[in-house]
Amino acid sequence: CGIVGIIGVEPVADRLVDALRRLEYRGYDSAGIATITADGLDRRRAEGKLNNLAGKLANDPLAGTIGIGHTRWATHGGATETNAHPHIAGKVAVVHNGIIENFKDLLQDLARDGYFPQSQTDTESVALWVTRELDRGAAPRQAVANTLPKLRGTFGLVFLFDGDDKLLIAARQGSPLAIGHGQTEMYLGSDAFALAPFTNQITYLDEGDWAIVTPGKAEIFDFDGNPVQRIRQTSSASAALADKGNHRHFMAKEIYEQPETISHTLAHYVDLSEEKVALREDLPFDFAKLSRLTITACGTAFYAGLVAKYWFERYARLAVDVDVASEFRYREPPLADNGLTLVISQSGETADTLAALRYAAKSGQHIAALVNVQESTIARESHVVFPTLCGPEIGVASTKAFTAQLTALASLAIAAGQARGTISASEAHTLVRALVELPSAVSEVLRHEKSIEGIARHLARASDVLYLGRGQMFPLALEGALKLKEISYIHAEGYAAGELKHGPIALVNEEMPVVVVAPSDDLMEKTLSNMHEVSARGGKIILITDAEGRAQAGDGISDIIEMPRVHPFVAPILSSIPVQLLAYHTAVFMGTDVDQPRNLAKSVTVE
Ligand code: G6P
Repeated sequence: CGIVGIIGVEPVADRLVDALRRLEYRGYDSAGIATITADGLDRRRAEGKLNNLAGKLANDPLAGTIGIGHTRWATHGGATETNAHPHIAGKVAVVHNGIIENFKDLLQDLARDGYFPQSQTDTESVALWVTRELDRGAAPRQAVANTLPKLRGTFGLVFLFDGDDKLLIAARQGSPLAIGHGQTEMYLGSDAFALAPFTNQITYLDEGDWAIVTPGKAEIFDFDGNPVQRIRQTSSASAALADKGNHRHFMAKEIYEQPETISHTLAHYVDLSEEKVALREDLPFDFAKLSRLTITACGTAFYAGLVAKYWFERYARLAVDVDVASEFRYREPPLADNGLTLVISQSGETADTLAALRYAAKSGQHIAALVNVQESTIARESHVVFPTLCGPEIGVASTKAFTAQLTALASLAIAAGQARGTISASEAHTLVRALVELPSAVSEVLRHEKSIEGIARHLARASDVLYLGRGQMFPLALEGALKLKEISYIHAEGYAAGELKHGPIALVNEEMPVVVVAPSDDLMEKTLSNMHEVSARGGKIILITDAEGRAQAGDGISDIIEMPRVHPFVAPILSSIPVQLLAYHTAVFMGTDVDQPRNLAKSVTVE
């Protein structure tokens, strides 16, 4: 979910909605704003996309110079207007991001005093608890101070109080929250990006902090209620609202940005004139001495980690474990002494990834983060931060962040190989050269979009699709299947090509397309024989390969997407592009909401 608040001197409703637009990537199944008008607290809420709320406000404007807003990704209670935030109880309105785990207990307690909820949300328990405190005579700040210790779970909260149009109270536990300082106004938001049109002067609340925000002032208290100072910084978040340019969707724009975003990221890790890896970060560990590398992440970032495993093992002879963060955090695996845990996250806010990081830190691991949002919680809690430089990613399905992650990971694998003496300077140079040549190969693939679109037209008729890959292409098969199901809602599965005969081959028939990701490398032949097992059973093949692969594949392939030939090292990065375009165009044919697919959110700050 996304949160915003403004203590203004001018009307705030439109600006709240504008800020919510920049947060829509965090959830978008309902939205709402509340302000204080001449008649007291008032609000407008709407189910569905933010435009519904904007439409409502156009017909029925909301006055007021102070307000809070919310765009929701439902956890408790369906995506209805009644469950949309802000929740108002008595003299308080609240917006909330996260999950109040003990809301049922709180509601039971409140019911004894005659306080009952109107929605099915966990959030309303917070509003009611504060209201009871107010009714018992507490002032707003005391009411919140009394309430926060009762809450279990995660929250970013902002409270607005009837009768005080110069006060917002905010609290952060597990969900990011930033205070923005204006000339005469004050702001609150889930991230600096939301506040970028208003101010670049940002104070981030730390975990457990809460803040009393009034014009020109933010008093911050830590978890124990002690006053604390948090630094005010100048944010680099861009004020320009990301726009689609001449593309139909953000996802298409982001796919097309990849030659540039890969180059930018590469330029950070590689000395382009010398063509060698030159890390700018001070490493708090020595690659040569590491006992083990543990990678943990969620979703697409996890698949980037899976590719990296092949690279670090092969080029740096470093043992690598990769695990999804939601499993890792609860399994609490033993971690080797002098091990490095690397978390990968576009947003830097994914709750499970953050928890995995904290577990690894507690276990004495070196902690490195590979993130796109450098001011994020994950970045701030890591010992060293490796950036991806691809700008804000708006499409919910990750594209340019994935290839930027891979670019950074490839560079780090080379650095590790050199430090460990497992690759020579000339081998390292060959690998760097391959990375340097990659962006132009990416643009070449983008020029084949039309033919991929043609193939997608057929794919859109399928109800199930299988993706196969071997070696470092196996994670690409997983990513391809994920992309397709995320945005086209077609069921897809990714499999290691060698596992085909252990199960999925039973599904193969004329109806089920099989996408094979197999650019030419030393394993391609093996993958091709798996492919022939499919075509022998009537399966339709879509082969993603290069000219050499095409020649080797022979006849009987329904469709081939040909990419330029690149060094096998960078082939997973290049193969991402056709995999993304195939999913994108299939989704467009299906007529789905490509940038904001149902039930998903860009940044998942709940478990
Ligand atoms: C969500 C997004 C995915 C993303 C995953 C991890 O599920 O829809 O695209 O890969 O979260 O997000 P992160 O920000 O940690 O990379």
